[in-house]
Amino acid sequence: MAGRFEGKTVVISGAARGQGRSHAVRFAEEGANVVGFDVCAQVGEPGYPVSTPEDLAETGELVRAAGAKGFTEIADVRDAAAVEAVFQRAVAEFGGVDVAVANAGIVQRGARAWEIEEDVFRTVLDVNVVGAWHVLKSGITAMRAGGPRGSVVVIGSGASVKGLANVGAYVTSKHALVGLVRTAAKEAASEGIRVNLVTPGNVGTPMFLNDAIKAIYVPDIEDPTDQQLAERAATGVPMQIPYVEAVDISEAVLFLASDAARYVTGSILPVDGGSAIP
Ligand SMILES: NC(=O)c1ccc[n+]([C@@H]2O[C@H](COP(=O)([O-])OP(=O)(O)OC[C@H]3O[C@@H](n4cnc5c(N)ncnc54)[C@H](O)[C@@H]3O)[C@@H](O)[C@H]2O)c1
Repeated sequence: MAGRFEGKTVVISGAARGQGRSHAVRFAEEGANVVGFDVCAQVGEPGYPVSTPEDLAETGELVRAAGAKGFTEIADVRDAAAVEAVFQRAVAEFGGVDVAVANAGIVQRGARAWEIEEDVFRTVLDVNVVGAWHVLKSGITAMRAGGPRGSVVVIGSGASVKGLANVGAYVTSKHALVGLVRTAAKEAASEGIRVNLVTPGNVGTPMFLNDAIKAIYVPDIEDPTDQQLAERAATGVPMQIPYVEAVDISEAVLFLASDAARYVTGSILPVDGGSAIP
C-alpha cells in the first residue's frame, strides 16, 4: 500500500533525537523524502544533555532504512540564513517542500518568572519562537513558490495553553506560538497552505526524562527515582499517564500534514492524556 506522503518532501527541525527523529521515521515510513536538521550542540543551559552529530546521523540512517530519500544538516533554528539554506537544498534536491515541522525547542532550568536570568529568557524565546518562525517562514516561502500548497506543523506544548510554575520563559515561548500559528494560518489559507499547532503533554524524550525535570516535579525528595517522577507526573493527568511517547506526537503531526486534514488549519491539537482539558 502506498504511503500517505509518497512523493512529498518534509523538512523537520530538531531531528537529531526525540520527537523530531520519530517524526522523521514516521514520514519516511509513509514514503516522504525527509530532510532533518538540528543544532547538535549546547544551546542555553536546559539542564539535560544536548543532542550530538551522531544522533542526527542516526536519524538519517533510520530514514534510509525505512526506504526513504533525504538528507540531514547541522543548522541552528536561530540562524535565518542557515534555515533558509536547508529549505533551498530540499527544493534543489526534491523539487519543492510540502511539509515543514517546526519541532526544535529547549526548556530551561527551573526558576520563578521574576528570577529567570536575562540571557536564559532571551535564549528560550530565540530558539522556541524565533526559530519556529524561521521554519514557518522558509517553509511557507518554499510552498508558495512551488504550488502553492502545503502544511506547516508547529510543536507547541501544554505550556502553550496554561501557566506552569518554574518554567516561565518556556511557557511564554510556547504561548507565543499560538499567535504565530493562528495568524499565519489566516494569511496562508487562501493559497492552500495550512498551519497548525500540536500541543504535547509530557513526552518520554531527553527533554523530560532528566534530573532537572525531576527537580521541578519532585522538589521535596532528594535524588528522586524515575518511578517517583512518573507518579508525580501522572498526578492531575486525566488518563493517569506520566508522559506520552514521541510516536504519539508523530501520529498527530502526520495527520495534520496529510490530506485527511485538508480543511484543518489554525487548530491546536493536544496529545496529552487530557491534561489540558480546561
Ligand atoms: N518532552 C516533552 O515533555 C515536551 C512536552 C511538550 C512539548 N515539547 C516540545 O517538543 C519539541 C521536541 O522536543 P523533544 O521532547 O523531542 O526534546 P529533545 O530535547 O529530545 O529534542 C529537541 C531537539 O531540538 C534540538 N534543538 C534545540 N535547540 C536547537 C536549535 N537552536 N536549532 C536546531 N535544533 C535545536 C535539540 O538538539 C534536540 O535534538 C520541542 O519543541 C519541545 O519544546 C516537549
